[in-house]
Amino acid sequence: CGIVGYVGPQNARDVVLEGLRRLEYRGYDSAGVAVLTGEGMATAKRAGKLANLEKVLAEQPLPEATIGIGHTRWATHGGPTDRNAHPHLSADGSVAVIHNGIIENFAALRGECEAAGVEFASETDTEVVAHLLAAEYTRTPEGPGRLAEAMRAVSRRLEGAFTLVASHVAEPDTLVASRRNSPLVVGVGDGEYFLGSDVAAFIAHTREARELGQDQVVEIDRQRGLTVTDFAGTPVEPKAFTVDWDAEAAEKGGHDWFMLKEIAEQPQAIADTLLGRLGDDGELVLDEVRLSDQELRDIDKIFVVSCGTSFHAGLIAKYAIEHWTRIPVEVEVASEFRYRDPVLDRSTLVVVISQSGETMDTLMALRHAKDQKARVLAICNVNGSTIPRESDAVLYTHAGPEIAVASTKSFLAQIVACYLVGLFLAQVRGVKYVDEVAAIVDELRQLPDAVARVLTQMEPVRELGRSLADAGTILFLGRHVGFPVALEGALKLKELAYIHAEGFAAGELKHGPIAVIDEGTPVVVVVPSPRGRSVLHSKVVSNIQEVRARGARTIVIAEEGDEAVVPYADHLIRVPRTSTLLTPVVTTVPLQILACEIADTRGFDVDQPRNLAKSVTVE
Ligand code: G6P
Repeated sequence: CGIVGYVGPQNARDVVLEGLRRLEYRGYDSAGVAVLTGEGMATAKRAGKLANLEKVLAEQPLPEATIGIGHTRWATHGGPTDRNAHPHLSADGSVAVIHNGIIENFAALRGECEAAGVEFASETDTEVVAHLLAAEYTRTPEGPGRLAEAMRAVSRRLEGAFTLVASHVAEPDTLVASRRNSPLVVGVGDGEYFLGSDVAAFIAHTREARELGQDQVVEIDRQRGLTVTDFAGTPVEPKAFTVDWDAEAAEKGGHDWFMLKEIAEQPQAIADTLLGRLGDDGELVLDEVRLSDQELRDIDKIFVVSCGTSFHAGLIAKYAIEHWTRIPVEVEVASEFRYRDPVLDRSTLVVVISQSGETMDTLMALRHAKDQKARVLAICNVNGSTIPRESDAVLYTHAGPEIAVASTKSFLAQIVACYLVGLFLAQVRGVKYVDEVAAIVDELRQLPDAVARVLTQMEPVRELGRSLADAGTILFLGRHVGFPVALEGALKLKELAYIHAEGFAAGELKHGPIAVIDEGTPVVVVVPSPRGRSVLHSKVVSNIQEVRARGARTIVIAEEGDEAVVPYADHLIRVPRTSTLLTPVVTTVPLQILACEIADTRGFDVDQPRNLAKSVTVE
């Protein structure tokens, strides 16, 4: 969900709405704004998309104001209704609050407010903060910083995850915000300040930003400027950073969907992720990995931990890192890893992968790993986000802002970053496959061109997608690194087109899944290269024959020049030749296009699929 705050000379309503629009990609099901003037607070909120809110605002405009807050909500406590939309007001109307996250002790706090006679207007956990803050304000001594002081007192009582932004009618020049385990960044413009759940909220206005730490309260005051403290009130200096994304990168630029634009940007995303990291002599330069060579040499086990699409990047990492470094690698979804007591110690490296850097499941896994003394390396796309900040080391993917909820360019950039980690470890530890490593480094440089070539050949895939729009189920098969690609192909289809889809290891087919294949069932098969590991290739070719014999309609993704698959492919999609371990970078692309086209043909919103959020900041 999205949070926006503004203090400055412009019309707050417009700045806030524009910020919300730029955060739409995070996923939401209701939206609201509040502006503060000398006369008091005015709010508007609506269930559904921002367009619903804009319609209300057109009929009943909010007063001109230069301070305001806005929110897009993804329902957790209470359904996505007008009433449950944020901002929430205190009973006396003095306080307006917006919130991301979950307040875990809300039932107890709500009981306390009700016992004091407060009547609740919504079913949300957020509303309790509005009431508590209003009450706390009256108890706080008058003077500058009074609202911030009240916010600190309330924050100390809250359990769970939250970003809160609040304003009070008695302080028409002030916004305060508080954060624990939930994202918040500050944008600093010329005589104006912005708050956002990420920098996309304000990059149209400024690139100067401040990163906030855990358990901090920020006060923005028109006269006094920016003040940050911890929950106890001790001042802290927020870390300044400059956003290197431009506003244009967060616009569709002529494409029908953000997702299509992001798919098209994949060659650039890969090139930017490699930039400056491949030395001329084939040596890798990963200065940002702040782990010493000795620490890297001491590693005897690696866990890769992530969620969703990032988990699939982790699965690919396992094949590459184990092969190049001979260090055992385990891959696990963060929500499982965290709660099963994994065996970790100081010689374990935990690689957490997250596009947003805010996924709560991944963040909790990271903290658990650190508690067990493991070293944590983050692969992340968003500068200034929580996961890289809390990790020992970070390797940024430079994919640029990803707006579509379903991840595409950051997935390819993550895979490339995983290769870099594997090759770097191999280099530092001086493992045997040195020749192979040098050849792979060379091939990495070719990847942007290879993906660009795939992109020029996608018209038949789009046509195929249109013909599959009514499919009841679609299966995806792969072996070796083709297996995670199959999983990702199935996930994309579920996410975007709401069609039942499953990915399988092709070898598992005969142990169960083959039973669901019926006349005409579409089966997508990711075929490994016939060069190199030819055993793998011939086994997959047999698997295609097996499903075809049961009536499947086969959609085969195979490298250029692979003639063995031709007789068994009802549809053949060609990809350029690459080394086996690098093939996911090219074979994923047609699967993204396929899912996008099927969803579009079915009339769905490709960028914002139902029930999904871009950044899931709850566990
Ligand atoms: C959400 C998104 C997925 C994403 C996953 C992990 O569920 O809808 O597309 O893969 O989170 O996100 P992260 O930002 O940690 O990579």
